[in-house]
Amino acid sequence: MAPTKEQVLDSLAKVPSPDGTPITATRALSDIVVTDGKVFFSISVDAAEVQRWESVRKRAEEAVRAVPGVQSALVALTAERKSGAATARPSPAAAAGPRPARHGGETTVGVPGVESIIAVASGKGGIGKSTTAVNVALGLSALGLKVGILDADIYGPSLPKLLAIKERPQTLGGTRLKPISRYGLTVMSIGFLIDEETPMIWRGPMVISALTQMLREVEWGTLDVMVVDMPPGTGDAQLTMAQQVPLKGAVIVSTPQDLALIDARRGIAMFKRVNVPVLGIVENMSYYLCPQCGTRADIFGYGGARREAEQQGVPFLGEVPLHMTIRETSDAGLPVVATEPDGPHAVIYRDIAAKVRDQLAGATRAAPKIVIEA
Ligand SMILES: Nc1ncnc2c1ncn2[C@@H]1O[C@H](COP(=O)(O)OP(=O)(O)OP(=O)(O)O)[C@@H](O)[C@H]1O
Ligand SMILES: [Mg+2]
Repeated sequence: MAPTKEQVLDSLAKVPSPDGTPITATRALSDIVVTDGKVFFSISVDAAEVQRWESVRKRAEEAVRAVPGVQSALVALTAERKSGAATARPSPAAAAGPRPARHGGETTVGVPGVESIIAVASGKGGIGKSTTAVNVALGLSALGLKVGILDADIYGPSLPKLLAIKERPQTLGGTRLKPISRYGLTVMSIGFLIDEETPMIWRGPMVISALTQMLREVEWGTLDVMVVDMPPGTGDAQLTMAQQVPLKGAVIVSTPQDLALIDARRGIAMFKRVNVPVLGIVENMSYYLCPQCGTRADIFGYGGARREAEQQGVPFLGEVPLHMTIRETSDAGLPVVATEPDGPHAVIYRDIAAKVRDQLAGATRAAPKIVIEA
């Protein structure tokens, strides 16, 4: 029998908050989402209280998992930023991470075992960011790197579809999640945990917390690069993500039209604001290649992204044509770099991946050493 919200609330009534009152009697609980045996909610506390609440979060998760019929429970601990207060650390587990980076005055801590985390982002939606993220990740993998990919698009996760992943991640030792492996990539998406059909209402802090958990409570293993497929846009949620994820760099995807380029410019500005190096711009849907006759048409006005990159003083990483094969393979969960490795598109993506790798090496060399005070 599928568990009900009432059953979940009953189980939570037995979990005390740090001052002893049941968490159901506090104002910390968000709405509780129960779908198909999967339970998700967040606990929002003051930034200064995060450490004290981490054990409550764990107990809440355990209590919910013990409800008959519950298959998985994800309880996010979110820190509401108070005016004047420091931004909260994601979770105590994060404190063990060895690679601090400073973003816009805030300090984020690396994910143990993961050498570099890069974002693939765009100001505008629907321009091929996820397709680019997956194929560039596969390109990096083809270059011999160990690569993971994290779908940070909480509002519209794409990796389950782009990589045709239907299975659910298993839990390890009751708390940590085992990512899914596909085409040699280590993959995690919030889409593996919630149903595609279920509309989710995410409040800002929930987004950050879910992301933090996907970074830190997933057994990523040892990775050279983790590619983060960011949600579109440059609003507060994206800015906070750019701050919270310890990014070594960002790849901006844009189509060549002026309107998309305005958004790309915003994306570049956003990453610069939080001191994340922009590794470069990819022009997606750069030109149209007719699959029948091979004729090329510059339907969006080819070359805009290259010019923009020059103007912004950031590297230009390459052009990906608008091509039926890319769309079809992408939408069928058979990304072109993995399924047609000898084809022309795979060459393009591998070339972009090589430039990303080289830029990343440069960015790592140039990054100032940051020492975190204990
Ligand atoms: N170079 C390309 N040629 C043809 N189709 C493409 C290309 N790049 C992406 N597409 C197609 O465009 C659509 C949108 O791509 P994708 O989902 O990667 O975009 P996105 O920017 O991640 O979108 P969202 O903002 O919704 O996350 C998909 O159907 C994809 O297959
Ligand atoms: Mg996407």
